[in-house]
Amino acid sequence: MMAKNKKTFFIKINGKDYRAKEGQTILDVALKNKIFITRLCYHPDTVVQGSCRLCLVEIKGKKGLFTSCNTQVEPHMDILTDSEAISRAKKTNLELIFTEHCEECGDCIYQYSCTIKDFAKKYNVKINKFPDRKKNHPVHEFGPALLFDSKKCIDCGICVDICKKVGACFLEFEKVGDFYEVMPSSKPDKDCIYCGQCITHCPVGAFEGVGEFEAIENPLQQKDQGKTVVFQFAPSIRSTIGEEFGMPYGSVVTGRLIGAIKQLGIEHVFDVSVGADVTTIEEANELVERLNDDQAVLPMFTSCCPGWVKYLEFYYPEFIPHLTTVRSPQIIMGGLIKTYWAEEKGIDPKDIIVISIMPCVAKKYEIERPEVMIGDIKPVDHVLTTREFAQLLKKHKIDLKEVKAVNPDPFLSTPTGAGVIYGASGGVMESALRTAYNKITGKKLPRLDLEQVRGINGLKKAEIEINGKKLKVGVANGAANAKKILEELKENPSAYDYVEMMACFGGCIGGGGQPVPVNDEIRKKRAQALYNVDNRQNVRMAEDSPFVKSLYNDFFKNHDILHKVCHTSFSKKDKEVYPKTSN
Ligand code: FES
Repeated sequence: MMAKNKKTFFIKINGKDYRAKEGQTILDVALKNKIFITRLCYHPDTVVQGSCRLCLVEIKGKKGLFTSCNTQVEPHMDILTDSEAISRAKKTNLELIFTEHCEECGDCIYQYSCTIKDFAKKYNVKINKFPDRKKNHPVHEFGPALLFDSKKCIDCGICVDICKKVGACFLEFEKVGDFYEVMPSSKPDKDCIYCGQCITHCPVGAFEGVGEFEAIENPLQQKDQGKTVVFQFAPSIRSTIGEEFGMPYGSVVTGRLIGAIKQLGIEHVFDVSVGADVTTIEEANELVERLNDDQAVLPMFTSCCPGWVKYLEFYYPEFIPHLTTVRSPQIIMGGLIKTYWAEEKGIDPKDIIVISIMPCVAKKYEIERPEVMIGDIKPVDHVLTTREFAQLLKKHKIDLKEVKAVNPDPFLSTPTGAGVIYGASGGVMESALRTAYNKITGKKLPRLDLEQVRGINGLKKAEIEINGKKLKVGVANGAANAKKILEELKENPSAYDYVEMMACFGGCIGGGGQPVPVNDEIRKKRAQALYNVDNRQNVRMAEDSPFVKSLYNDFFKNHDILHKVCHTSFSKKDKEVYPKTSN
């Protein structure tokens, strides 16, 4: 059936004509035409909440004020976005919002760009006109990854919706006295998967990663007292951290990032994309082995996203045998630093402190998993998110824009293009398929760019022909999309051979530790920047990396070491005990 064409017509906003389409809201038309309307509880990733009432407008000929985010346009509507009545109403609504929100700005992710403070200034609002209703509300801790400060929550509902869209459905509204408030679910079948999408979507900074500033300031200062501090950064950081310093979306700043870390006094800076190259080799090997074994469990699932792994271990433990046993790039790289590199340099691994810069708060959880230990060696000691690292640089008065690019270390900071694209949804699969194809056919893929698995769509399916056989692949981002694949597999176990799953929208470039704001346009630019790096790279397949070759020809000849550094295990996880709270 043909989709019904939507009617277009003109409306007036502030006296000027604009083309509008049936079904659009006033805010949609305003945003499209770059007309600013204050708003707080609107996010393009979620359903319209309509709760903050800061997006009020007047419609000529109609009585009262209207919320522009959920009022649909009609032909000839004549709209005013500013008037005395609008300002008065917004001022009152803001004052009420401030009764819900205790200002604790020091560690807030919006400390340099606070929307509600800007609005307060604009509408001349006295922040403390009314007492804080929530001053005794608790801070909830979700594992070693996330904090929810309910004193700051304005109960707009964005986090509840995004948690549902991700697929965890862990945040919900509960009646507390006379109010409905956001709470972590007490239901036994709901748990946090640490994706952190609540952080990047909350407009008032009520969620944050568990900060490690104090923990890392110490190693930063003690680095001359017998400890060697090493920083490593995830593939996606190169195309996102620039935003924290006002650079355009999709700016690639690898050299500056290395330079900035060195300005902190750190000598050794490594690129986790190199660990990704090792993940690729191992994962492609495992895929080929499984495909060649009639008894093997298929499809094989990727396992480098700890949010996805937690989702599977908690919500679908019956699928655990599908996960590849290969460790994530962060854990492999940390393991290599504390084994291979430690041996090369003659340093006791116990004297090395590895600090990761990651796109994701679930990576804070991943390093605490007992399954990633190498004997008594913990591969990674601390994780800072992209935002936290930017905050650290600002604290040290380092402006990334002004930093001179520094060349990477020729081995541990020189990845292939295949390692860099891990940061985008579909990247892990594309990298592994480049290598698996080569392993099976002895030839390179005719086109290294596997467009079929790229892009920000939540669910992608493709068939890749290898030696006359069709390999059925699927890519899901957002656990709710992963759930669709899992449910499909229950009906049809041979629907796929290989599936990549990521908890966050767009993969790591949209991770819960990345800069805010975020939306599909921004995710596309961040991902494209990684593909551009891959395209410019001379070496685009993991097995062609000189470092990877030397590693397998020498250090990884010892299979026990290879197994300990590169492989892990998974098990059914129980619900964490909630609420873990403090005031
Ligand atoms: Fe419209 Fe909040 S943005 S009510």
